[in-house]
Order: sequence, then C-alpha cells, then structure tokens
Amino acid sequence: MCGIIGYIGNEPVIPFLLEGLSRLEYRGYDSAGIATIHEAKLVRFRNAGKVRDLEAVLQNATPAATVGIGHTRWATHGAPTEENAHPHFDCHGNIALIHNGIIENYLTLQEELVAEGHKFRSETDTEVLAHLVEHYFTGDLLAAVTAAVRRAEGAFAVAVLCSKTPDRIVAARRGSPLVIGQSRDASFVASDIPALLGKAELVTFLADDELVELTRDAVRIVDFDGNEISRPPHRVRTDQVSIQKDGYKHFMLKEIHEQDRSVGETVREATAFGPSRLSILQEPIAPFDHIYLISCGTAFHASLTAEYMWERYLDVPIQSIIASEFRMRSPHLSEKSLVIAVSQSGETIDTLMALRRAKSAGAQVIAVVNNEQSTIDREADASVYTRAGIEIGVAATKTFTAQIAALGLLGMQLGKERLSQAEIDAEFERLALLPGRINEALQREEEIHAIAEKLHRATDVLFLARGELFPIALEGALKLKEISYIHAEGYPAGEMKHGPIALIDEQTPVIFLLSRGLAFEKVLSNMEEVKARNGQIIAVTDAIADPAVIRLADFAIPVPDVEGISRPILFTIPLQLLAYHTAVWRGTDVDQPRNLAKTVTVE
Ligand code: F6R
Repeated sequence: MCGIIGYIGNEPVIPFLLEGLSRLEYRGYDSAGIATIHEAKLVRFRNAGKVRDLEAVLQNATPAATVGIGHTRWATHGAPTEENAHPHFDCHGNIALIHNGIIENYLTLQEELVAEGHKFRSETDTEVLAHLVEHYFTGDLLAAVTAAVRRAEGAFAVAVLCSKTPDRIVAARRGSPLVIGQSRDASFVASDIPALLGKAELVTFLADDELVELTRDAVRIVDFDGNEISRPPHRVRTDQVSIQKDGYKHFMLKEIHEQDRSVGETVREATAFGPSRLSILQEPIAPFDHIYLISCGTAFHASLTAEYMWERYLDVPIQSIIASEFRMRSPHLSEKSLVIAVSQSGETIDTLMALRRAKSAGAQVIAVVNNEQSTIDREADASVYTRAGIEIGVAATKTFTAQIAALGLLGMQLGKERLSQAEIDAEFERLALLPGRINEALQREEEIHAIAEKLHRATDVLFLARGELFPIALEGALKLKEISYIHAEGYPAGEMKHGPIALIDEQTPVIFLLSRGLAFEKVLSNMEEVKARNGQIIAVTDAIADPAVIRLADFAIPVPDVEGISRPILFTIPLQLLAYHTAVWRGTDVDQPRNLAKTVTVE
C-alpha cells in the first residue's frame, strides 16, 4: 500500500508534500517522511506516526526547497519505526527513494549489494532499490533507475531524487499505481489523483513497466527498454466531491450522510434513457454461459448481494468469489465466461490479478469501479461506474451502496429477457424514490447513537440475516470490527443452530436483519431461539410494528419497507451508523482505523 508523492517546480515544496500526503493517508498511515534538496544536498525528515506528526518534525525544514518527494507508509517489511520510514537513502545520502509495493527478490539483491560493500540501515525491502540505483548511477538518473527496476521482482511504484541531478525526479511503475501531473510551471507524481487536486491541471497514468522523468517544465515517459512513449494527458476534473469534512466530525459520517446523492447519481446516470432502455453498460456483451464476480472486502459483500439479486433474472450460474481465492482455485474460464471485477479504488492488487487471469483465459471482463481511469477500469473490456465521488474514510460506506445500485441495474440489463416491462417499471419507480428513503433511514441516527452506547461494551456481536440480506449482515459485521475493534461475525440466520448458537448468552448482542418480504417467519423463529438463550436482540427491520418483533427485540431500528435493489441498500444505512457510533463511543480513530489501508496494493 503506502502513498507516494513528488513535486518539482518553483513553489516551496514542503507545504505541497504535506497536503498531498495527508490526502494519501487513506493508503497507509503508520509512518511518513519527505526528502528535499537544499544547497546540493539531500535533506530528509521522517517520523513514526501520522502525517500530522511529521509537521512537527518539519519545523526545522528549509522553506526554500522547490523539489521533493514524500511518503506515507503501511508497513509490510519492518516495523513502523523512523528507520524503516521512507525515503530511503543510498550509502552516501545522494539518492533518496520512496516506494509503494513489495520487492520480492530484495534478499537476493541485498546479499549481492552487501558483498559489494553497501551498508543497509533499515529492515525494509525498499532500501535495496536505493542502493541499486547508487550501484548503477554514473551521472544519468533515468538510466540508473531503469537499470535498478529492471532487476526488481514484485510490485512497485517508486520515485527517486538525487542530489547530483537536482533538476529532476525519476519515477517508475510495475503493478502499483502512479499518476503524473503537470501544470504550467511544475511537474508532479503521486499514487493517486486526490493528492494533486487543485495543483495539477493535466494528468497521465503511467502504465506497468514505464518510467517518467520529471523536470520543472516537462515530463518524459519511456518504457523499461528506453523507448519513448507518447500518451496524451487528461484534464483534471474539477467537479470532484469536496475533500473537506463539511462540519461533520469524521469523513465516514459525512460519507454515510452523502448516500442519497451517491446512490442517486449512480442510478441517475444508469437510468438516463428511462425504463424502456436499460443503459448502465454502453458496450455490447458477447454471449456468456456463466458469471464470476471477483472482489475483496466490502466490494465482495456488494458482489455477493448481486449474486443473490441476479439469480432472479439471469439464467446462468453466478458465483461471487473473493479475488485472492479466485487465484487459488481452478475456476472454469473460457471466452464464454463473463467476469465482473468490483472495486472502489480500481487498484486492489488481488482483484487486478484475478482480472488479468480471467482475461488471459479469454473471458470478457466488466469492471464496476468508483475510480475512473484506475488500472482495473483501464484493463477491463468495459466499465460501469459508481458515482460516489472520492471516499476518504478508510471503511467503505457510500461506495458500497453505490456498488449495490450499479450491480443491481447491471444485472437487470444483462437479464432483461427474463424481466417483464412491468417489473422494470416498478424497479425504476422504487429507484426514483430511493434517495428520499435513504434520508428517511438516516433520520434514525439519534436512536442508533443510544443503542451504540450499549453495544460499545460488547466483546462479540453476531449479525444474522437470510437471503440477500445475509451479505448485508457480513458487511455490518465488517464495519463494526474495522472501526470499533469489536469482534463481530455475519452469519446466515438459518445456519446459527449449526454452531454460532454456542456463543449466545446474555453478554452477546445479536443483530437481526428482518424483512417482511424475506423469510420473515423463519427469521422470527431464529430470534425466538436467541431469546430462549437470553441473548440481547437488536432488530433492524421493515416490520417495526409487528407484535412478535415488539415482543422479541430489546431494541429495534426501523427501515423503510421496500423491495428490489432498494432493500439491501436501506438495511445497510443503520448498520453503518451503528458501527460509526459504537466506534465513537469507544474513542477509536474512525477515519483511520489501526492496521488498515484503503487501497490494498500488496498481495
Ligand atoms: C472495508 C473496505 C475494504 C475494501 C477492500 C476492497 O471497509 O474498504 O474491505 O472494500 O479492500 O477495496 P476496493 O473496493 O478498492 O477494491
């Protein structure tokens, strides 16, 4: 993971690097550092901790520097200490290098370099690259970095600064994302566009096995064989969602409250031609005889929700598989496979690798992504976009519900032959009302805050549901554990008696997702079973006034009673609020929970 950034221009570099790094902190935040050049010498500031802690260290920094690189780390090799923080130097402090990814053959390279007399100071895989650049450097930084990255195995995005060539930064990519930015008098490089918003006017994405040489007024892209690459830049979209908290205490809360808009936008774009012409996917799709959905984490829960929804109107086998497992298994892939890669960031390495495997077997691949121009978007045969805008909170919220909306509509388009026009019309009517209903679900925040006060003392929580609400139970449990650090599990309610029932006692809250339209009586029976064992029941339900619910639930949170694509979305909202408020009661770092990173670019 990790976030990297570089700037060469005429403005003071340190404020830009700090601002950019804070926008990249979603990628990792256990240590941070920057390097600049002052009076022909590299100057480095590093710190274990977050970017804001680095600001204190930078009190002594030279304000005049106008070239520099910066890094925010998510530790893979070596603990999050100052010594392991990037930038890493070569032996003589002439070369500074930052890296996102993993150098898999670093031990072999390190042995070779140590034998030549190089001295290593950190436990990271990254430092080997700084020494390798030193080894190859004879005055031309681009040539030295090219020679170094050609020896590296694994995934990397690197940026390199050299005190002997202070008028340039060289960056290279294989596997990890890298975007190049340009303005009238400066050049930039970063892991992602948000770091460059408001600064770069034009952006270009570096592809795998490419390098870029940045000077103040030009960028030059070459491949690892030294061939020049010409790629027209894109203008940066200025309509990106604001990356301020807008009065909310946390980005996550702001993003939960934005869902009327993010779902609304996603639906609006996908339904622009009305119910007579489903148009979420613009490109034609060749015949297919089975579907795999591949994704990780929250995106997997959206995929699993889609699997349940799509089975109703698609006449082919559908399977949702966690991307890292897809690669461990032997899926039946051919040109008749339709593979849907679902990813907010569009950069998750496991999803990307699974996509590449599917493509190489001849499958058609559709991406469902939030981040336009991301690697998964670019490598898929066609893309469907969620219009959630930038999501800063590490725990995904608005992008999840936008994924369900987009996937629901994509499934309808793929399976339209088996849907009547009346069914499509009814879904469109429900979707038109969905933003209002999301707002209705959000109105329950005060009650949820009070329930969270009780929940925050729990050590284990079960989330139970059936049918298409089962993946929402999984998501509810994931949100709670991610940000409150309470152990939580999602389970199909019918499966409870096959094991998890052993956990139930008066200390274990059980959250039931209960819909009148989905095995209502059966889920009520499961609630009886919990009640009989003195479990505490929190019912999230569209049947709040039902006498059995009133009798069984210790707490109940109402959800608007709507079927179709709206139902899993509306049941998600209270679970997000419950996780959020529980975390706030526990005093955790909601937007940057421990150990996590938003974009997972290591396998
Ligand atoms: C959970 C969360 C992660 C991501 C997962 C996939 O809140 O955010 O589980 O969903 O890392 O990320 P994307 O969707 O970017 O591929």
